[in-house]
Amino acid sequence: MILALDQGTTSTRALIAGEDGRLTPVLNREHRQIYPRPGWVEHDPEELIAHLAACIEASLPHAPRAIGIDNQGESCLAWDAGTGRALTPVIVWQDARTEETCARLKADGAEDLSLARAGLPLDPYFSASKLGWVLRHVPEAAALARGGRLRLGTTDAFFLDRLAGTFATDVTTASRTGLMNLQTLSWDADLCALHGVPAEALPPIRSTTGDFGAIRGIPVTASVTDQQAALYGHGCRAAGDGKITFGTGAFALMLTGGLDRSRAGCLPTVAWQLRGEPPVYALDGGVYAASSAVNWARGLGLFSGWDQINGFARDSAIDAGLAFVPALAGLACPHWNRRARGAWLGMGLETSPADLMQALLEGVAFRMAEVIEAMGAPAGHALSIDGGMTRNPWFCQTLADTLQRPLTIAAEPELTAAGTAALAAQGAGLELAPPPVGHRIAPRPVPGAARRARFAAARHAVEGFAQAATPDGT
Ligand code: G3P
Repeated sequence: MILALDQGTTSTRALIAGEDGRLTPVLNREHRQIYPRPGWVEHDPEELIAHLAACIEASLPHAPRAIGIDNQGESCLAWDAGTGRALTPVIVWQDARTEETCARLKADGAEDLSLARAGLPLDPYFSASKLGWVLRHVPEAAALARGGRLRLGTTDAFFLDRLAGTFATDVTTASRTGLMNLQTLSWDADLCALHGVPAEALPPIRSTTGDFGAIRGIPVTASVTDQQAALYGHGCRAAGDGKITFGTGAFALMLTGGLDRSRAGCLPTVAWQLRGEPPVYALDGGVYAASSAVNWARGLGLFSGWDQINGFARDSAIDAGLAFVPALAGLACPHWNRRARGAWLGMGLETSPADLMQALLEGVAFRMAEVIEAMGAPAGHALSIDGGMTRNPWFCQTLADTLQRPLTIAAEPELTAAGTAALAAQGAGLELAPPPVGHRIAPRPVPGAARRARFAAARHAVEGFAQAATPDGT
């Protein structure tokens, strides 16, 4: 009934949702990850468009009544308003090319403005500094801007412009740019000026569900950032409800019932805005390296089969003094230090590859616990989890023990697509049955002292490393 197009960091997928809410995968296309220089991460916009087009084509026999598209969030680019031709690669959310620019703006005291208006720190993660970079480094973009022909935006706006003939973005994606005022839900002139982004080149901001044009005659009725789609797909609707998706990175989102700027280091963000309704707000916190850390370790040869990391000889690596800091791509919430790097601490001659893997999985769980604590999630409130790493029962149990709260492990593996489809159905005036309820695991009681000791050791490792990597080397 509904076609969900899930355009993520590693792949583009088409899934068809039936009225019963069941999802049928139609097509999955991986795209290239382009690393032109250290710290730079790009995608080819034409490759993404081609994969979306193939996904739509393959879905036509299912005769979908509406389309929903979710996107990577902060990844952005520039294109020619006249021809639709991309002027830049997609500069991916992981790309750190603007680290120095952000550090300079921060040193100039500009972060307060960004936090007050957009709710976001000055970090290369967000689109704002990247779009400013485009204006400074791509002469054709600057020339088109002077002629009023430049378009700038997150990938959703590019896809919608090219495929559906609608130049627009939605509030959730706009809330990830660092250019939108979270209260007024419009582009902020001061933030645009701060980053050197011409506001007139940005797309109009719309609600998450509504009219985004049509592709092959099928109306596009929802456009949303993938993490927010997953939050909706998990069935989170009340303040305190939250989810964690363990993909490339691990991203936690928790509904707050209103705009909450009080949680230092966490990101207030728009969860969704249904057509004609006020926005729903959430707090966001990410750990940049989750599955990517596991895959990296696999590439290093630390393990080969997944069953090798689904149980370990001893209860805990950190209790034995071995810790892993999963800062392979820097530290996000609540540290915001791009220069931090990953590390194992406490290795001895007896340390085995399995020990290193146990510490790595624990390290991801501890970092996520740090995020959930920073968000002030209500004690004991269950969280829903999904993503590749949740297929590892040892990891899930360790996470529940570390968080000391119950976890619901999603039964539907495609909750991002489920959320996108549900939003698109909503936008089309249709309704989908919710995804099947997942199974719940309870935390094993860990004595307070032991838990505190584990946390202290993990935090010591993370903070020690965050500090060692500060720009001035102190
Ligand atoms: O903030 C980045 C996040 O939305 C990317 O998610 O699933 O595309 O890796 P994913």
